[in-house]
Amino acid sequence: MIKKILFCLIFFGFLILKNKAEKEPLRFRSDGTFQIMQLTDLHYGDFSVNDIESDLSQDIYFDTEGENTDLVIFTGDLLLPGVYDPMTAWENAVYFANSKKHKYCITFGNHDDSGWLSRDELIAIDMGHEYSYSQKGPENIHGVSNYYLEVLGSNSNETKLILYFFDTGDSDCEGVPGWGCVYPDQIEWYKNISNYLKEKNGETKPALAFFHIPFPEYMYVWNNNTCYGVKEELVCCWSQNTGLYQTFLEQGDVYGVFVGHDHKNDYIGNYNGIYLAYGRKSGFGCYEPEPPTIQGTRIIRVEENSRQFQTYIRNRESRKEIQEIHYPNGTSQNVCKN
Ligand SMILES: *[C@@H]1O[C@H](CO)[C@@H](O)[C@H](O)[C@H]1NC(C)=O
Ligand SMILES: *[C@@H]1O[C@H](CO)[C@@H](O)[C@H](O)[C@H]1NC(C)=O
Ligand SMILES: *[C@@H]1O[C@H](CO)[C@@H](O)[C@H](O)[C@H]1NC(C)=O
Ligand SMILES: *[C@@H]1O[C@H](CO)[C@@H](O)[C@H](O)[C@H]1NC(C)=O
Repeated sequence: MIKKILFCLIFFGFLILKNKAEKEPLRFRSDGTFQIMQLTDLHYGDFSVNDIESDLSQDIYFDTEGENTDLVIFTGDLLLPGVYDPMTAWENAVYFANSKKHKYCITFGNHDDSGWLSRDELIAIDMGHEYSYSQKGPENIHGVSNYYLEVLGSNSNETKLILYFFDTGDSDCEGVPGWGCVYPDQIEWYKNISNYLKEKNGETKPALAFFHIPFPEYMYVWNNNTCYGVKEELVCCWSQNTGLYQTFLEQGDVYGVFVGHDHKNDYIGNYNGIYLAYGRKSGFGCYEPEPPTIQGTRIIRVEENSRQFQTYIRNRESRKEIQEIHYPNGTSQNVCKN
């Protein structure tokens, strides 16, 4: 009996230690870069041809970019709307990251909890994985996947980059029908963390933000600024502009924003000092990018000690795509599509 208890203590003690040791800090490489691979809108859950194609695609992304990638970020809709087996579908979606031993984390899209697993249950499942850096945000604000991660220097333990993750919910914003958003209580949470980190680090450190549903400024950047990539559908943005972009400007830390949601849009542009980027739809299901565009992943290679990153699309045929330039040309969308 005592032997058994002792065994359990040692065994679980080992597990806890192992788990702690594995959550080693995120860190810039010795060459001063930190590479992120953004996967978005995988839409797993048909357990048939689409999932197989998504698997084949992920295999190619990890083959071509895995070695150089320091963190894989899933910006929502890992699952299909109304998925009947969300548990298995989730495991399939994050299978490559885990089996290939890549640090990764997620933020929820509007469809992830449309099966029988809630956001709370999904995040708990995800956080149980050895390579997951996902976290559950504070209970008293909207959404679940609200958290931040710090990336340390290549040869120091100083924070050099902050990554913010926001949960843009399912649908409707402050009672206005349409798509979800980041609510004012989440913006207050971000402001508090941003101020706290500024204090802790002695200065404002560069930051990037990741979430699923774009804010309305994604329409404006396409209308007014030079962009790279395509806009083949109307921007399905927040039904209310709660002011997150404005708060990013005021706080001065976030200089790049990365979203998903609109499968036919993949552009990036600089809107008054902040890069606004879509990922490229990475998986199959729901609806696909507009041909000749094919599924892919956005690679973001961040430079240490600067507010700069390089970015490109690696597509499912292994090719590195340089996105086509788009000049503002008077075609304007001013209202988010529902
Ligand atoms: C960073 O912190 C770790 C753990 O506390 C320590 O082992 C390491 O020497 C530190 N590295 C530098 C460059 O200060
Ligand atoms: C602000 O952030 C700090 C650091 O995470 C935390 O300890 C504190 O509870 C937060 N305050 C509010 C009001 O959220
Ligand atoms: C950009 O475009 C929209 C209309 O599409 C407009 O409302 C806005 O004022 C324009 N200018 C800037 C600087 O964003
Ligand atoms: C503006 O650009 C879009 C996308 O590149 C294109 O489809 C459209 O025809 C252009 N409009 C004008 C007026 O040139």
